[in-house]
Amino acid sequence: MKVSVIFLIVSLFSPLLEANPGIKVKITQKALDYGKQFGIELLKQRLKKMTSEDWNGQDTYGFIGLNYKVAKIRIDNAEFPNTSLSLISGTGIKLLVKDASATASADWSVKTWLFTHSGTGTVFISGVSVTAVIKVSQSVSGHLKLLLESCEGEVGEIDIKLNQAYRWLYKYFTTFLVQPLNISLGSNLCPKLDSEIQRINEEFSQYPVQAQIDPFAIVDYSLVNSSAIFESSIDLDLKGTVYPVEKITEPPFKPTPFVLLDENNSMFYIGVSEYFFRSASLAYYTSGAFDSSAEQEERLSSYFKLTTETLNKIIPSIAHLYGEPLPVIMEITITTVPVISLHSDKSTLEFTSSMEVLAMLPNSTTQSMFTLNITAGTHANLTIFDQKLITTLCLDSFHISLVHSNVGFFEASLLDNFLSYVLQTGIIPAANAKLKDGVLLPFLDTMILMKPNVRIYQGFLLISTDVIYKAYDNQEDLDLQANTDIFFLP
Ligand SMILES: *[C@@H]1O[C@H](CO)[C@@H](O)[C@H](O)[C@H]1NC(C)=O
Ligand SMILES: *[C@@H]1O[C@H](CO)[C@@H](O)[C@H](O)[C@H]1NC(C)=O
Ligand SMILES: *[C@@H]1O[C@H](CO)[C@@H](O)[C@H](O)[C@H]1NC(C)=O
Ligand SMILES: *[C@@H]1O[C@H](CO)[C@@H](O)[C@H](O)[C@H]1NC(C)=O
Ligand SMILES: *[C@@H]1O[C@H](CO)[C@@H](O)[C@H](O)[C@H]1NC(C)=O
Ligand SMILES: *[C@@H]1O[C@H](CO)[C@@H](O)[C@H](O)[C@H]1NC(C)=O
Ligand SMILES: *[C@@H]1O[C@H](CO)[C@@H](O)[C@H](O)[C@H]1NC(C)=O
Repeated sequence: MKVSVIFLIVSLFSPLLEANPGIKVKITQKALDYGKQFGIELLKQRLKKMTSEDWNGQDTYGFIGLNYKVAKIRIDNAEFPNTSLSLISGTGIKLLVKDASATASADWSVKTWLFTHSGTGTVFISGVSVTAVIKVSQSVSGHLKLLLESCEGEVGEIDIKLNQAYRWLYKYFTTFLVQPLNISLGSNLCPKLDSEIQRINEEFSQYPVQAQIDPFAIVDYSLVNSSAIFESSIDLDLKGTVYPVEKITEPPFKPTPFVLLDENNSMFYIGVSEYFFRSASLAYYTSGAFDSSAEQEERLSSYFKLTTETLNKIIPSIAHLYGEPLPVIMEITITTVPVISLHSDKSTLEFTSSMEVLAMLPNSTTQSMFTLNITAGTHANLTIFDQKLITTLCLDSFHISLVHSNVGFFEASLLDNFLSYVLQTGIIPAANAKLKDGVLLPFLDTMILMKPNVRIYQGFLLISTDVIYKAYDNQEDLDLQANTDIFFLP
């Protein structure tokens, strides 16, 4: 049963740490129901694709020696009308399969010294039930681990129909097939489930704890505490820290505990704390993601077609220094780590930067005119697109102060309108262009987020979403996963 769908969503596969989480993930009953539905579809497809070795042997019936052969065994249909996945508080997941049934067909032949007889046959298997408890825990290495804690499997009825068969042959087959088939089937259900669970654990253990997001940052999605299983959800706590690529050191601040509301309309709830964003801001600042290149500065300056003549109109003393209009260059440096805060319904981002304004002399050397400190307050619009959290900044306010001037003293506020224009039309759009790539959410490539929604609470951001599994109706993907070992036969 492909319950892995549910668990693969989060890559929580690392040593456990005792710490508050930076990210919380809540998996609801709705996700389990979807996982179940998907698991059944997948199982049906797999059963239909299953191939089995032919089955032959020698026997005697009365005094007649015979060779029998059952070939081309295939499962035509399987039904799971009453299956459920539910949560057992503090333990794990309960799987209940009731009244499952399957129809298999095969070609048969019987050879004796007297005659050869062959035909096709159908086996109806019904009343298959499985009751299993799967414990959700973690391995010594700290990976999430499923454990089949208890399991009972049973087969209700097996009915065989043979076409073109003599009555005695029918009896023969019934006697010799039904019992072994029943025993084999019944005793295979739980071991089969167990090996499927082992396969899922194998998949878990292959997921890396830390992933590089881009040239600047690494994100850690590892599990920080034992996941808690409640009656209505599985709650997982992830580290949720972003580090600069060159050095993994813990940020000098700690996550603040936060609580996800007990909602269940969506399959998943992901709470991303202010801590996560603060660590990201620090990581990007440390690895120089905010540094602008000379090229970008030139592009920005030429975009505004800025010359000393333009500035003359604001700061008249410039006219005395430069007779000829000279091109002007703005060099911007982010001077402290941008501060991100999450408040109810609003996320804000504050930048402090320094801007040096220079004149480009005819011999291509630059001469500093003045330097400003700029503090800009923005709020962020957050949307989810293409599995990514995308931030769009909007300027709310800014403040400028004059740090140094080579063109004589002037009131920095004279530059308010000019800077407002530069920020709104040059710098913020440039920052948004950079942010356009977004932050990849901790979902697998195989999932598509459905109707994701972002809300901001005090101290954390909440993403609620449903998912669909891409492979749901993708035959090729299913082929890759199709398991050729046989479920039913001895
Ligand atoms: C770890 O989990 C246990 C129970 O699941 C809880 O009591 C404890 O407070 C958690 N510790 C931290 C640091 O979150
Ligand atoms: C599934 O099994 C439960 C428990 O036996 C029963 O109450 C329910 O009616 C069954 N549902 C269906 C669709 O057969
Ligand atoms: C299969 O075996 C189970 C117990 O092992 C028994 O209850 C059931 O009646 C058997 N079914 C058939 C069709 O023999
Ligand atoms: C969802 O939550 C509501 C209210 O808390 C509850 O009545 C309902 O049974 C829950 N549904 C599921 C599927 O857990
Ligand atoms: C460029 O011109 C300025 C002013 O005319 C002068 O002070 C400076 O030394 C020149 N630099 C070079 C590299 O020629
Ligand atoms: C931010 O969102 C608000 C409301 O959703 C919208 O009016 C505004 O245009 C958005 N701003 C940007 C820069 O996308
Ligand atoms: C400008 O910013 C720098 C760095 O943040 C700070 O040290 C300096 O005091 C500020 N100067 C003024 C005049 O605001």
